[in-house]
Amino acid sequence: MTERLAIDGGTPVRAQPLSGGFHGSAEIDQREIDAVLSVLKRKRLFRFLAPEAISESAQLEAWYAQRLGRKYCLAVNGGTTALIAGLYGLDTGPGDEVIIPAYTYVATAAAVIATGAVPVIAEVDASLNMDPVDLAKKISKYTKCIVPVHMRGIPARMDEIMAIANAHAIPVLEDVAQSNGASYKGRYLGTIGKVGCFSFQQYKIITSGEGGLIVTDDEEVYDRARMQHDCAARFWEGVDAHKYNFVISGENYRLSELSAALVLAQTGRLDPLLAQFRMVKGRMAAGARDIAGLTLQDVPDPQGECGITFTFFAPTPDLAKRFAAALNAENIRCGTIYDNSIPDRHIYSNWPFMMSGLAEERRAPWKSPYYKGAVKGYSPTEGPQSLGYLGRAIMIFIDQFFTAQDADLVVEAMHKVAKAVL
Ligand SMILES: Cc1ncc(COP(=O)(O)O)c(C=O)c1O
Repeated sequence: MTERLAIDGGTPVRAQPLSGGFHGSAEIDQREIDAVLSVLKRKRLFRFLAPEAISESAQLEAWYAQRLGRKYCLAVNGGTTALIAGLYGLDTGPGDEVIIPAYTYVATAAAVIATGAVPVIAEVDASLNMDPVDLAKKISKYTKCIVPVHMRGIPARMDEIMAIANAHAIPVLEDVAQSNGASYKGRYLGTIGKVGCFSFQQYKIITSGEGGLIVTDDEEVYDRARMQHDCAARFWEGVDAHKYNFVISGENYRLSELSAALVLAQTGRLDPLLAQFRMVKGRMAAGARDIAGLTLQDVPDPQGECGITFTFFAPTPDLAKRFAAALNAENIRCGTIYDNSIPDRHIYSNWPFMMSGLAEERRAPWKSPYYKGAVKGYSPTEGPQSLGYLGRAIMIFIDQFFTAQDADLVVEAMHKVAKAVL
């Protein structure tokens, strides 16, 4: 006999809704407060006024360079500006195409457009990350760079993506904004492609409200990115510090020392947070694996992922909606792409500057006289495979306050709902 669902008046599996909130910013303790206060007391809020040894931005870069084993790190004021500077680092500009996945935060597409290049949308597969099969189809002679995005803590299929990129000698820039700390087959995300870009915005695993970082082993990429992130880069560093043979006018994406101090203090939280997310996620995945009718998201490296989301697919979009409604009634918070009050900005079909047809002629790189490729515009239906997966996906966000018992109740509720709904 099936148990009466809470949505039909039965007793919910949990008495109260699961928590669901931020990660890094959910806990800010005295260490973090002291770190910011010490910058205020020094009265050096700008990195080039603080000696390199105590500059918080320089220390943050050193921490990441050491952790990731990369030669160059550049702190910037956001994930979007990290992407823009990273793309400049790869000399991306008007006339170029950049391949991005159909499922990523709108900023990935906006960053490409900010460089004057044309975004080309590749489908996502059952990992909800870039589908290597479709990526191969989207490469053209104008492809300057490939940007896999490790969404929601899940690594993209980097072996396959790198194989395709290498076969065409096209550099890869990894967007790690949502997967700080994760790895793929033993390598940290952000270190597999030529460039890795991180975000420390408030929704991210560790945060300073706003902030970002670029990592690379390539000196020229670093020099170009650094010049783009600071139009006065050459002045702060002294004329002889670098022998550049190129010039970029640049903008200013510098990170404030206050933000750098906060996220540097937060770095101590990264591994403990990941350990907790992974414990909870592992338990949910193990308990839900055999539920008839549900398929778990295909995670390319379960050991390396962050564990911040648990996603599974119902057989049809309609069943996904019904399943999610029933699970929410059991006090297990979850979402589908249908139930947001605003259109999900992570899905390509909702990116207005590409989909609405309102893009201004002068600001739409695909209308630029420099561009000779095939993209004439975009259509909300051009990613049917991605919309198919996303339409059937049910996602649970995991935060550090979930316990093992919470994980078990999620599994219990999924079994209960599956029996009644599927
Ligand atoms: C995948 C992805 N890329 C880029 C960004 C942009 O980062 P930021 O908000 O720090 O500019 C985000 C942030 O939300 C993101 O999730």
